[in-house]
Amino acid sequence: MKDQFSKKGEAWSARFSEPVSDLVKRYTASVFFDKRLAHVDIQGSLAHADMLAYQKIISAQDHAEIQRGMAQILSEIDAGTFEWLLDLEDVHLNIEKRLTELVGDAGKRLHTGRSRNDQVATDIRLYMRASIDDILGLLKQFRIALVDLAEQHASTIMPGFTHMQVAQPVTFGHHILAYVEMFGRDAERMADCRKRVNRLPLGAAALAGTTFPIDRERVARSLGFDDVCHNSLDAVSDRDFAIEFCAAAALVMTHISRLSEELVIWMSPRVGFIDIADRFCTGSSIMPQKKNPDVPELARGKTGRVNGHLIALLTLMKGQPLAYNKDNQEDKEPLFDTVDTLVDTLRIFADMAGGISVRPAAMRAAALQGYATATDLADYLVKKGLPFRDAHEAVAHAVRSCEQKACDLSDLSLDELRQFSALIEQDVHAVLTLEGSVAARDHVGGTAPNQVRLAIKRVRASLN
Ligand code: ARG
Repeated sequence: MKDQFSKKGEAWSARFSEPVSDLVKRYTASVFFDKRLAHVDIQGSLAHADMLAYQKIISAQDHAEIQRGMAQILSEIDAGTFEWLLDLEDVHLNIEKRLTELVGDAGKRLHTGRSRNDQVATDIRLYMRASIDDILGLLKQFRIALVDLAEQHASTIMPGFTHMQVAQPVTFGHHILAYVEMFGRDAERMADCRKRVNRLPLGAAALAGTTFPIDRERVARSLGFDDVCHNSLDAVSDRDFAIEFCAAAALVMTHISRLSEELVIWMSPRVGFIDIADRFCTGSSIMPQKKNPDVPELARGKTGRVNGHLIALLTLMKGQPLAYNKDNQEDKEPLFDTVDTLVDTLRIFADMAGGISVRPAAMRAAALQGYATATDLADYLVKKGLPFRDAHEAVAHAVRSCEQKACDLSDLSLDELRQFSALIEQDVHAVLTLEGSVAARDHVGGTAPNQVRLAIKRVRASLN
């Protein structure tokens, strides 16, 4: 990759008596990765130039020349003909140098009242804002796909687990809606983070502000920022918004990873609750029978790198005195990789959710093993007047006897059941069925198919 950067161009000048070594040049340069900011860098420069002209800090003619040069640079970048030079260190100097080649002195005037410190902070915020908007769109698509899946299975019964032991029957729709809740909170966090991303650092210059009569509000408005950063030292050195974003991203990936873990378990032939469409799985090079859930496994694995980026950024900031330090150049790769990982993962998962096929018979069979309706029997006894602790004890005896007979609670006859409590009557069998169990949990947040359908309606309304 580095080879595409030729060695021409002189970034540093009069102040230095010897050039930096090639190794130092490579070590300090960021253009390999920050050229991704080229579009937002130009966008920011055009807003800055517009303000300089409006404030009569540069002439209208210089402004026009800058616009002409930037249009040319944009087309060169988009055509892939722009020559990125390692010697020019970063995206900002590369673009400025080319502008000067194209339009002469007007290009040299662009940097009036500005520093790369406020420039780069502005660029990252513009980039992050667009990334958050992409991610919000993808989270929405993913939630819609999950809601569709939940709707198809609003009354499909599966075992619910605690401690990975069968606990109580739930509906698969209800289980999937739990993830819809998680990704809904993730979207709220992203939207909240966007508020603090969307403020303009430009105008802070290197750290102390500038002597030129700039109009920061004008620049903020033209770039779509909600406000300006109110302290120049903070403006150039704040990366809280990037850390917050990484924290929100780490939570998205954590939720994806939990879901992935379940998908892997559910797809295991031992469990067999679901199948995932072939296009998300791969085979084995040695075992012809294998179909592996690669996508969920990889997503689970990639959660590690996203969590790592959060720690990298926290650590990057913890020792920095005010104001800008070169350390900050290290914010970009973790940030970019977080965005890339999240965007790809969400895109794939939104598609994969539609490729999950459910095996209700396997889910049902599993729910029937493990005395999933034992709590229902205890609740039944409580409703007949027994204190809950006594009911719990009576049902524990019944379960123990079922274990000895290798049968389910619902297989016991009325007489057999009455040995554990005389309060048990004919109506008990309705309570011991899986359908009766889920239907009885009919309140907001409960697993009853009726409630699942209401919850789906609520989520759909919030998604529109
Ligand atoms: N490439 C730098 C960065 O990413 C731009 C700011 C450089 N400023 C400086 N004074 N060296 O942070």
